[in-house]
Amino acid sequence: MWLKLITWLTLLQLLAGALSQELKIFGGITEPVRNYPFLVNLRRGPTFKCGGALIAPSCVVTAAHCLENDVQNVDNLYVNAQQDCLNDTIPDSNVRQAWYACISPQYKPINLDADLAVIKLRQPFYTSDIINTVAVDFNDPPEDARMRIVGWGMTNEEGLDWGQCLQSADVSLVRRDQCNRQMSLITPITKNMFCALGENKIDACQGDSGSPILYGGRVVGVVSWGKDCGSGLPGVYTRFSSSSMMWFLQSFIETNCLD
Ligand SMILES: *[C@@H]1O[C@H](CO)[C@@H](O)[C@H](O)[C@H]1NC(C)=O
Repeated sequence: MWLKLITWLTLLQLLAGALSQELKIFGGITEPVRNYPFLVNLRRGPTFKCGGALIAPSCVVTAAHCLENDVQNVDNLYVNAQQDCLNDTIPDSNVRQAWYACISPQYKPINLDADLAVIKLRQPFYTSDIINTVAVDFNDPPEDARMRIVGWGMTNEEGLDWGQCLQSADVSLVRRDQCNRQMSLITPITKNMFCALGENKIDACQGDSGSPILYGGRVVGVVSWGKDCGSGLPGVYTRFSSSSMMWFLQSFIETNCLD
């Protein structure tokens, strides 16, 4: 009898431990990438680096820090479309090589201010129901906005899984003043950033960088940085609605992406 009770208690404790672990980092669900026809992952050679989104058939938006100060050298940079898990085989028609890339002139690696880059592809993707572009929204989401994040980043503390399958989660906008109170010890939240956090500390994590954050099906930013993952602190995103991010993106699109 006692033995049984103890066994049950141990089991319950183990279960609780496992659950809190699972919620600790990210806490999303696996979702088929076909639900996101514009979503791509970035590779340096074969190595997965970041997420990104097709904002035109030949242009991908991502975070500046994803290019690792190597923006001049993108010959070995590739984007993979419609890949559920990072180790899934995909047809050549879903892969494109980068031609050149441009990072925001305001980008500061020290605090990840203006963490935004656009990659021009050597060949455009043939758009269809399967691979397609996503609209960019240059408006601020409303104060109570629920947004969707997607990515192939870490889901636990064991590090990146090179076979990670796409995860998605819903997060809510965190007010700028509140986020600043929580994050300013690390670095202040600039006007080129906004913050979001999900229920049960759902959050983006390492490897999700550059992936889009969506409001009403449009991209309003990209994953930029955070203090740990699932710490209960908000995740920080590059804010497309700031005047400098909007100017940078719009002028890049006009001069490079309308083909
Ligand atoms: C892909 O990676 C996952 C997890 O890392 C693994 O379980 C699976 O067997 C791998 N698949 C292939 C085709 O290598």
